[in-house]
Amino acid sequence: MNFAVLASGRGGNLQAIINAVHAGQIKAHLKVVISDKKDAYALEIAKQAKIPAYYINPKDFSDRVSLDRAIIQHLHEYHVDFVVLAGYMRLVSSYFVDQYPNKILNIHPSLLPAFKGMHAMKDAFEYGAKVTGATVHFVVEQMDEGAVIVQEPVRIESNDTLESLAEKIHAAEHRIYPQAIELLVNGKLKIEGRKVILKN
Ligand code: GRF
Repeated sequence: MNFAVLASGRGGNLQAIINAVHAGQIKAHLKVVISDKKDAYALEIAKQAKIPAYYINPKDFSDRVSLDRAIIQHLHEYHVDFVVLAGYMRLVSSYFVDQYPNKILNIHPSLLPAFKGMHAMKDAFEYGAKVTGATVHFVVEQMDEGAVIVQEPVRIESNDTLESLAEKIHAAEHRIYPQAIELLVNGKLKIEGRKVILKN
Protein backbone atom coordinates (compact mmCIF):
# COMPACT_ATOMS: atom_id res chain seq x y z
CA MET A 1 0.00 0.00 0.00
CA ASN A 2 1.11 3.55 -0.72
CA PHE A 3 0.24 6.57 1.35
CA ALA A 4 0.71 10.33 1.54
CA VAL A 5 1.11 12.69 4.49
CA LEU A 6 -0.31 16.22 4.40
CA ALA A 7 1.19 18.58 6.97
CA SER A 8 1.32 22.30 7.70
CA GLY A 9 3.75 22.52 10.59
CA ARG A 10 6.58 21.07 12.63
CA GLY A 11 6.12 17.54 11.42
CA GLY A 12 6.44 15.75 14.76
CA ASN A 13 3.79 13.24 13.74
CA LEU A 14 5.34 12.91 10.28
CA GLN A 15 8.67 12.03 11.92
CA ALA A 16 7.00 9.44 14.17
CA ILE A 17 5.31 7.90 11.12
CA ILE A 18 8.58 7.82 9.14
CA ASN A 19 10.26 6.12 12.12
CA ALA A 20 7.47 3.53 12.27
CA VAL A 21 7.84 2.81 8.54
CA HIS A 22 11.61 2.42 8.93
CA ALA A 23 11.12 0.16 11.95
CA GLY A 24 8.74 -2.08 9.97
CA GLN A 25 5.77 -1.31 12.24
CA ILE A 26 3.90 0.26 9.31
CA LYS A 27 4.18 -2.03 6.32
CA ALA A 28 3.32 0.56 3.66
CA HIS A 29 5.22 3.04 1.52
CA LEU A 30 5.16 6.73 2.36
CA LYS A 31 5.37 8.04 -1.20
CA VAL A 32 4.80 11.77 -0.91
CA VAL A 33 4.49 14.62 1.58
CA ILE A 34 2.49 17.73 0.71
CA SER A 35 2.30 20.99 2.61
CA ASP A 36 0.22 24.13 2.23
CA LYS A 37 2.90 26.11 4.13
CA LYS A 38 6.14 26.95 2.39
CA ASP A 39 8.22 27.01 5.56
CA ALA A 40 6.68 23.92 7.20
CA TYR A 41 9.47 21.95 8.86
CA ALA A 42 7.58 18.83 7.73
CA LEU A 43 8.90 19.50 4.20
CA GLU A 44 12.45 19.48 5.54
CA ILE A 45 11.84 16.23 7.43
CA ALA A 46 10.52 14.64 4.22
CA LYS A 47 13.55 15.79 2.24
CA GLN A 48 15.93 14.40 4.87
CA ALA A 49 14.11 11.07 4.60
CA LYS A 50 14.36 11.28 0.78
CA ILE A 51 10.59 11.36 0.35
CA PRO A 52 9.25 13.56 -2.48
CA ALA A 53 7.89 16.73 -0.87
CA TYR A 54 5.73 19.42 -2.43
CA TYR A 55 4.59 22.84 -1.33
CA ILE A 56 1.26 23.81 -2.83
CA ASN A 57 0.34 27.47 -2.38
CA PRO A 58 -3.40 27.77 -1.57
CA LYS A 59 -3.31 31.35 -2.93
CA ASP A 60 -2.79 29.92 -6.43
CA PHE A 61 -6.32 28.50 -6.33
CA SER A 62 -9.67 30.24 -6.43
CA ASP A 63 -11.39 27.85 -4.01
CA ARG A 64 -11.00 24.80 -1.78
CA VAL A 65 -12.02 22.29 -4.43
CA SER A 66 -9.45 23.54 -6.97
CA LEU A 67 -6.72 23.31 -4.34
CA ASP A 68 -7.86 19.79 -3.44
CA ARG A 69 -7.91 18.80 -7.13
CA ALA A 70 -4.26 19.80 -7.42
CA ILE A 71 -3.40 17.78 -4.31
CA ILE A 72 -5.36 14.77 -5.57
CA GLN A 73 -3.42 14.93 -8.85
CA HIS A 74 -0.21 14.42 -6.89
CA LEU A 75 -1.79 11.61 -4.92
CA HIS A 76 -2.83 9.84 -8.12
CA GLU A 77 0.62 10.36 -9.61
CA TYR A 78 2.09 8.45 -6.64
CA HIS A 79 -0.68 5.80 -6.65
CA VAL A 80 -1.65 6.71 -3.11
CA ASP A 81 -4.11 4.31 -1.43
CA PHE A 82 -4.70 6.30 1.75
CA VAL A 83 -3.98 9.75 3.17
CA VAL A 84 -2.69 10.80 6.58
CA LEU A 85 -3.35 14.34 7.78
CA ALA A 86 -0.64 15.21 10.29
CA GLY A 87 -1.12 18.75 11.52
CA TYR A 88 -2.71 19.79 8.22
CA MET A 89 -4.43 23.00 9.28
CA ARG A 90 -7.08 23.08 6.59
CA LEU A 91 -10.47 21.48 6.05
CA VAL A 92 -10.59 19.09 3.14
CA SER A 93 -13.51 19.42 0.71
CA SER A 94 -16.19 16.79 0.14
CA TYR A 95 -14.56 16.30 -3.26
CA PHE A 96 -11.38 15.18 -1.47
CA VAL A 97 -13.26 12.96 1.00
CA ASP A 98 -15.17 11.31 -1.86
CA GLN A 99 -11.92 10.46 -3.63
CA TYR A 100 -10.69 8.54 -0.56
CA PRO A 101 -13.76 7.33 1.34
CA ASN A 102 -12.71 5.91 4.75
CA LYS A 103 -9.12 6.25 3.61
CA ILE A 104 -8.21 9.59 5.22
CA LEU A 105 -6.98 9.74 8.81
CA ASN A 106 -6.48 12.74 11.08
CA ILE A 107 -5.02 13.30 14.52
CA HIS A 108 -6.52 15.70 17.03
CA PRO A 109 -5.00 16.79 20.37
CA SER A 110 -7.97 16.01 22.63
CA LEU A 111 -10.28 13.13 23.45
CA LEU A 112 -12.98 13.78 20.86
CA PRO A 113 -15.77 14.78 20.93
CA ALA A 114 -14.45 17.05 23.71
CA PHE A 115 -12.50 20.14 22.70
CA LYS A 116 -12.94 20.19 18.94
CA GLY A 117 -11.33 22.95 16.93
CA MET A 118 -8.01 24.66 16.46
CA HIS A 119 -7.07 25.27 20.13
CA ALA A 120 -7.93 21.93 21.71
CA MET A 121 -5.00 21.75 24.15
CA LYS A 122 -5.39 25.32 25.37
CA ASP A 123 -9.16 24.91 25.63
CA ALA A 124 -8.85 21.74 27.75
CA PHE A 125 -6.17 23.36 29.94
CA GLU A 126 -8.15 26.55 30.51
CA TYR A 127 -11.37 24.64 31.07
CA GLY A 128 -9.69 22.91 34.00
CA ALA A 129 -10.23 19.41 32.64
CA LYS A 130 -8.37 16.70 34.59
CA VAL A 131 -8.02 14.40 31.60
CA THR A 132 -7.55 15.16 27.92
CA GLY A 133 -5.55 13.27 25.30
CA ALA A 134 -5.19 12.49 21.62
CA THR A 135 -7.52 10.96 19.04
CA VAL A 136 -6.93 9.41 15.63
CA HIS A 137 -10.11 9.41 13.56
CA PHE A 138 -11.38 8.98 10.03
CA VAL A 139 -11.95 12.21 8.16
CA VAL A 140 -15.37 13.32 7.01
CA GLU A 141 -16.22 16.74 5.66
CA GLN A 142 -17.21 18.21 9.05
CA MET A 143 -14.28 19.16 11.25
CA ASP A 144 -13.21 16.63 13.93
CA GLU A 145 -16.33 14.51 13.31
CA GLY A 146 -15.32 11.17 11.77
CA ALA A 147 -15.34 7.78 13.48
CA VAL A 148 -12.72 7.33 16.21
CA ILE A 149 -9.95 4.78 15.60
CA VAL A 150 -7.59 5.11 18.60
CA GLN A 151 -7.48 7.40 21.64
CA GLU A 152 -4.96 7.84 24.43
CA PRO A 153 -5.84 9.75 27.60
CA VAL A 154 -3.42 12.25 29.15
CA ARG A 155 -3.85 13.51 32.73
CA ILE A 156 -3.69 17.23 33.43
CA GLU A 157 -1.88 17.52 36.77
CA SER A 158 -2.07 20.64 38.92
CA ASN A 159 1.59 21.44 38.23
CA ASP A 160 1.18 21.15 34.44
CA THR A 161 1.66 24.20 32.25
CA LEU A 162 0.23 24.45 28.75
CA GLU A 163 3.75 23.63 27.52
CA SER A 164 4.17 20.50 29.66
CA LEU A 165 0.68 19.36 28.70
CA ALA A 166 1.47 19.87 25.00
CA GLU A 167 4.60 17.74 25.40
CA LYS A 168 2.61 14.88 26.94
CA ILE A 169 -0.08 15.08 24.27
CA HIS A 170 2.47 15.11 21.47
CA ALA A 171 4.16 12.04 22.96
CA ALA A 172 0.76 10.28 23.03
CA GLU A 173 0.13 11.32 19.41
CA HIS A 174 3.45 9.88 18.31
CA ARG A 175 2.46 6.54 19.87
CA ILE A 176 -1.10 6.25 18.60
CA TYR A 177 -0.75 7.59 15.05
CA PRO A 178 1.62 4.81 13.92
CA GLN A 179 -0.64 2.27 15.71
CA ALA A 180 -3.74 3.50 13.88
CA ILE A 181 -1.97 3.47 10.51
CA GLU A 182 -0.70 -0.04 11.22
CA LEU A 183 -4.29 -1.17 11.94
CA LEU A 184 -5.54 0.36 8.69
CA VAL A 185 -2.72 -1.13 6.62
CA ASN A 186 -3.26 -4.56 8.14
CA GLY A 187 -6.99 -4.43 7.27
CA LYS A 188 -8.03 -4.53 10.93
CA LEU A 189 -10.53 -1.65 10.85
CA LYS A 190 -14.21 -2.10 10.11
CA ILE A 191 -16.54 0.90 10.21
CA GLU A 192 -20.06 0.31 11.51
CA GLY A 193 -21.91 3.62 11.61
CA ARG A 194 -19.99 5.85 14.01
CA LYS A 195 -18.04 2.94 15.41
CA VAL A 196 -14.74 1.50 14.30
CA ILE A 197 -14.58 -2.20 15.15
CA LEU A 198 -11.16 -3.80 15.52
CA LYS A 199 -11.08 -7.08 13.65
CA ASN A 200 -8.98 -9.99 14.96
C1 GRF B 1 -0.71 18.02 16.51
O1 GRF B 1 -0.90 18.38 17.84
C2 GRF B 1 -1.99 17.51 15.90
O2 GRF B 1 -2.82 16.88 16.81
C3 GRF B 1 -2.64 18.80 15.43
O3 GRF B 1 -1.56 19.58 14.96
C4 GRF B 1 -0.37 19.23 15.63
C5 GRF B 1 0.65 18.92 14.58
O4 GRF B 1 1.94 18.75 15.11
N1 GRF B 1 -3.64 18.50 14.44
P1 GRF B 1 3.11 18.19 14.19
O5 GRF B 1 3.25 19.10 12.98
O6 GRF B 1 2.78 16.78 13.79
O7 GRF B 1 4.34 18.26 15.06
